[in-house]
Amino acid sequence: MATTQMGDTLTITDNRTGRTYELPIENGTIAAKALLQIKASEDDVGLRSYDPAFTNTAACKSRITYIDGERGILRYRGYPIEQLAEQSNYLECAYLIVKGELPDTESLARWERNITMHTMVHENIKTFISGFRYDAHPMGILLGTVGALSTFYTDASNVQDLDSRRLQTRRLIGKLPTIAAYAYRHTRGYPYVYPDNELSYVGNFLSMLFRMRERRYEPNPVIERALDTLFLLHGDHEQNCSANAVRAVGSSLVDPYSAVAAGIAALYGPLHGGANEAVVRMLQSIGSPDKVARSVARFKKGEERLMGFGHRVYKNFDPRGKIIKKLAYDVFEVTGKNPLIDVALELERIALQDDYFLARKLYPNVDFYSGIIYQAMGFPMAMFPVLFAIGRTAGWLAQWAEMLRDPEQRIARPRQIYVGEGERPYLPIAERPAPVDREDMVSDHI
Ligand code: ACO
Repeated sequence: MATTQMGDTLTITDNRTGRTYELPIENGTIAAKALLQIKASEDDVGLRSYDPAFTNTAACKSRITYIDGERGILRYRGYPIEQLAEQSNYLECAYLIVKGELPDTESLARWERNITMHTMVHENIKTFISGFRYDAHPMGILLGTVGALSTFYTDASNVQDLDSRRLQTRRLIGKLPTIAAYAYRHTRGYPYVYPDNELSYVGNFLSMLFRMRERRYEPNPVIERALDTLFLLHGDHEQNCSANAVRAVGSSLVDPYSAVAAGIAALYGPLHGGANEAVVRMLQSIGSPDKVARSVARFKKGEERLMGFGHRVYKNFDPRGKIIKKLAYDVFEVTGKNPLIDVALELERIALQDDYFLARKLYPNVDFYSGIIYQAMGFPMAMFPVLFAIGRTAGWLAQWAEMLRDPEQRIARPRQIYVGEGERPYLPIAERPAPVDREDMVSDHI
């Protein structure tokens, strides 16, 4: 898909030497490596680009997810998210994300069977989870347990083998809901519920979460469909923090359980998978729609952020946010209205008329309404990022496999600009001055 034409070049003049260079522009980018030829002197290593947090650096070529943040477009493998949310389901989309095409009837049935076959976990996993403290955060349990899976499936270290990659992919998509449900039951002190393979992927998850003494758990079809759509909407989001973690860790050729555990760790952070929880806390602290206007003033003064608003990539609306808002009402038909929705709607109404938010292109993102739905479904807030992780597993695995197959990828290893001390001689301890405490160093004066 290279799109270089005559004239698709960048001319750079190095004012240190007066020399001029012509760099090819491909797909709207220049190769950072092409800068290396630009040297101030013979022994110079060459020019590098500096981009903390990769805000303007493409680290890979990908065929999985397309986002146009200016126009609010999100597509998996070319298919608009709105169409997928309306007509597809999570497992079919997981197939699409991982394999690149939508399945036909037979392939979908085989895929569903293959995933369902892997919903059970080794009995030792139950014992392993039981070892966590009663109040352990379920995301911490998920992170530790997914990492521990590598000790159960040692064949997974064979990452260059296609069959092994396929098997681990099915295992991970199959087992994530089971581990997530066990993590939830552990924090409640309830016995773990074995998978029921007669139920759908999401129906079985609900059964493992909420089944009590009933002989058979019957998931509510509206809740089942809504949670399925939420998983689908979280399926992939190109090079976000956790996908980048999976790619970077996976590039060392470690097994996929360890790489996906790294993705879960990244998602655990409040700037990534934790924002939906922050939204619910914010709405609770506002309390009621009549108090919204006063809060908006605080957000505009920069005293607090309006959680669930704004996005690094979307500078128009977040298409997932629109779908989730509609979904909330389907769920409330069953669960009863979560009163926080009225606070959220008023907040959105006021913010979207306000110059502060309009000028900065701040719109509701995926997290603005998702927490309200999860709460209405009966999930505690600590489970919100765990639900995100289940949906995102398909994306992490697709990103991991794409990275492994890409001949241009090697072990991820960024450069740095060293700004520390120059060479200095080692002093015997008696001759050293007292060290000064610095903010970036661990202090031993606590
Ligand atoms: N409330 C109030 N002001 C905001 C908000 C917000 N939620 N978000 C951005 N701004 C303002 C900033 O203060 C800044 O204003 P200034 O130009 O006057 O200084 C301007 O908008 C640009 O903000 P940045 O922080 O530079 O935007 P960035 O792209 O770095 O941040 C982010 C994006 C982190 C999502 C930010 O909008 C935010 O903190 N939002 C709230 C948290 C949130 O909802 N996170 C979930 C994101 S979706 C996801 O990860 C699944």
